[in-house]
Amino acid sequence: MLDLVMMEQRPLILGLSGSLRNSRFGAGSKKLVSQLSDCRDELELGALLKREAYFCVEEFLEAGKASGLSFDEIYRKYQGRRGDRGLSNSEVALAAGLWGALRGGARVEHISLDSVFGNRSSSAGIVQLREKLIEADGILVSGPVYFGDRGSLVQDFIEFMRTDPQVRSHLSSNARRKAYAGISVGAKRNGGQETSLIYQLLDMASLGFLVVGNDAQSTAQYGGTGWAGDVGTMAKDKYGLTTAIGAGRRLSEVVSLLSSGFHKRAQVRPRIGVWVLQDKDGKARQTTEDTLFGQRIREAADIGIFDFTGQSPRRCIACDICPTDFGPDEEYRCIIKNPEDLFANFHQDLLGFDGIVLVGYSAADVSRVVSVYQRFIERTRYLRRGDYALSNAVVLPLVFEEVGARDSLSLRMLTSMIRHHTVMSSPTTINIWNGQLLNTSQAQASVDQFIADCRLLACGKQHQESAAASPQYNPIGYSLSAEKARQQREQWSAGRQAAPLNS
Ligand SMILES: Cc1cc2nc3c(=O)[nH]c(=O)nc-3n(C[C@H](O)[C@H](O)[C@H](O)COP(=O)(O)O)c2cc1C
Repeated sequence: MLDLVMMEQRPLILGLSGSLRNSRFGAGSKKLVSQLSDCRDELELGALLKREAYFCVEEFLEAGKASGLSFDEIYRKYQGRRGDRGLSNSEVALAAGLWGALRGGARVEHISLDSVFGNRSSSAGIVQLREKLIEADGILVSGPVYFGDRGSLVQDFIEFMRTDPQVRSHLSSNARRKAYAGISVGAKRNGGQETSLIYQLLDMASLGFLVVGNDAQSTAQYGGTGWAGDVGTMAKDKYGLTTAIGAGRRLSEVVSLLSSGFHKRAQVRPRIGVWVLQDKDGKARQTTEDTLFGQRIREAADIGIFDFTGQSPRRCIACDICPTDFGPDEEYRCIIKNPEDLFANFHQDLLGFDGIVLVGYSAADVSRVVSVYQRFIERTRYLRRGDYALSNAVVLPLVFEEVGARDSLSLRMLTSMIRHHTVMSSPTTINIWNGQLLNTSQAQASVDQFIADCRLLACGKQHQESAAASPQYNPIGYSLSAEKARQQREQWSAGRQAAPLNS
């Protein structure tokens, strides 16, 4: 009985597969969850995924064997299967992600979007999807890349959330916030997995989800990225499976923080850093300070506004040893020591925030714009490689944008900051026409939600002390850094000194 109660308290992650080749639905979805729960390690998971992926190949061949049928007819026969065995490519990746989420301590369930919106659609499917969406603490969406973007099943799902009154009101009013992570599988190595994930991140954030990528143990990027074309081939893409597992694990970490934050509800005063990085005539800074983060917000949170536009960050020198040393976060460990450098001067001021707001101004005529944005972002490399010093901060991209401006700033803020192992909230744009700010009250609502999210996560972090320690940076793709990190960690553990927690 106690076990059952404990089970129910574990956050729920709903896995949604958006492939036209979906193999699992109905009882097959339940069977998948139980098969994943039985896998004790990655070896067993790998064996399961290979076996199930191979069913798809066999069945595909079986459907067309000696029949002389056209490809379309074979495909229709192939789709008429039972739904309790086999896995399409993006389902293989989703299964890996759900396994990561299970290992991270979440409960998981699976729904095939094909059975809701596709060939097997039914009104019962819609009812079940709505109920499960409302119940879930997080969603993990996996689908194939079609033309550098998601497919129509995932699009139908997004449209459903945008238009269904119950889901909409739940997403916009629920104090218990939901998180999202994505997985995308394409036939080409660079076939658009990242573009589709980024569009999806943006749309999910706009719908009211807090969005995360894959975790630090994998690559801390945009989610799971699989490389597979023909049916049955995804199980061979080890790197892709690693990122998919990492996406599920990261999602489970964050839903667990959100859920403990919600249940404990302590009076926490979040610390917020507001970094102004691009401005015109001081307008972004002034509106941010006087209006959006004015007196009412300052009563609810500790707000530090830093106008960095007058500073001079030196360029990153892309060294192989970043950061220079193994040490605590508080120590400035970038190789650039120029006394005029922004980071050398402000390093301490950039740390310890529950929430970070990046502020920028996009002008139609850029002649009076002052920007340190790109240099600032490239220099934050030492914070990322210094074991994710900004980990688990909630990030709000806030852009003041004149009609006619074209510099994609809010999207770039999202794609750069998520790589700091953060939790992203919806990029917020204040439109400007003839000097008039058009939607300040909408932006104020985003800021209010952001403060509430920072409080929720800060409270969750307080109750899960392990989450306060930032995760170890894994130098995937950098053998020099990997070797240096190995040697330095060995020196620490050989022990003149115990390794600091946040080193
Ligand atoms: C209409 C269509 C468009 C596609 N576009 C792309 C693409 O832009 N980039 C890519 O890498 N693969 C593309 N693919 C290949 C699929 O993404 C790939 O086969 C994937 O493994 C399918 O996953 P699934 O088995 O879960 O359906 C496309 C496939 C189809 C049917």
